[in-house]
Amino acid sequence: MVKIFKLKNIISIKDFEREDIEYILDEASKLEDIAQSKAISDELKGKVLGLMFFEPSTRTRISFETAMKRFNGQCIGFASSDSSSVSKGESIADTAKMFEAYSDALVIRHELEGVSKFISDLVDVPVINAGDGAGQHPTQTLLDLYTIRDEIGSIDNLNIALIGDLKFGRTVHSLAQSLTLFNNIKIYLVSPPELRMPQEILHDLNKTNVEYVEVDNIEDIIDDVDVLYVTRIQKERFVDIDDYLKIKGAYIINKKMLEGKDLIVMHPLPRIDEIAGDVDDTKYNKYFKQAANAVPVRMAILKTLIKNNPK
Ligand code: NCD
Repeated sequence: MVKIFKLKNIISIKDFEREDIEYILDEASKLEDIAQSKAISDELKGKVLGLMFFEPSTRTRISFETAMKRFNGQCIGFASSDSSSVSKGESIADTAKMFEAYSDALVIRHELEGVSKFISDLVDVPVINAGDGAGQHPTQTLLDLYTIRDEIGSIDNLNIALIGDLKFGRTVHSLAQSLTLFNNIKIYLVSPPELRMPQEILHDLNKTNVEYVEVDNIEDIIDDVDVLYVTRIQKERFVDIDDYLKIKGAYIINKKMLEGKDLIVMHPLPRIDEIAGDVDDTKYNKYFKQAANAVPVRMAILKTLIKNNPK
């Protein structure tokens, strides 16, 4: 049976079924050689990707660009609000309509939740949410799941600890919701009390068979996990900087804590101080591989959406 990918836009991981996730991960596996420059492809030659990044980004923006270029496609766009006419007072809606005219798909990052959805209702080209405030980051989740499947062999039967800023961290929101589609999952939610996972995400977990426990200390759970998924405290989302300073440095993973353990360490990056540099040279470090996996996974996303939805 020929599989098809039903989604036109990638806005929230909650729009995915398990088969949609598997479709993208399987496509990504097939694209590894092109992603690593061991083969060449003209798959998206003549196509243009519009990158609208109102909020800072390194990996997400550059890996989308790399993905497009590996297919011989082109990218246009801006990397901050300051360098677009939004800074002159142009509305997001008008900006998006221009980008719709110039490109075959749009990738959007914005500090406000819901902006990608808003734009997807205005334009006819596919829209990809590359992070909306403390909301969702679905393409990061796809590359996280790809990394887990690649490193561990399966996403089912997984014990995973999500560590750090569970309140404002959009990567852990999407990742937790995605895991509800898999079997025999246990999630340890490790955060300071002030940065617990939002109720609406816990509500989503409660509706499924995913088992989850909220804990304060990594030491309590480290022997029981396959993956430590570490996140940065999202400084830019705090209203009062003193609240950030109180929590800063709450969790730091170092080599000594990991010795003798059977697990991998992941992080969406950027890291500040939550993973010590001495972990980088150990077998536990999968965060750089995870960042590299962004290219084949985003290639799979672009190929699928642009080919399925020609202008
Ligand atoms: C994350 C993000 O922007 O949400 N980074 C990323 O896309 N890899 C994580 C973060 O900023 O902490």
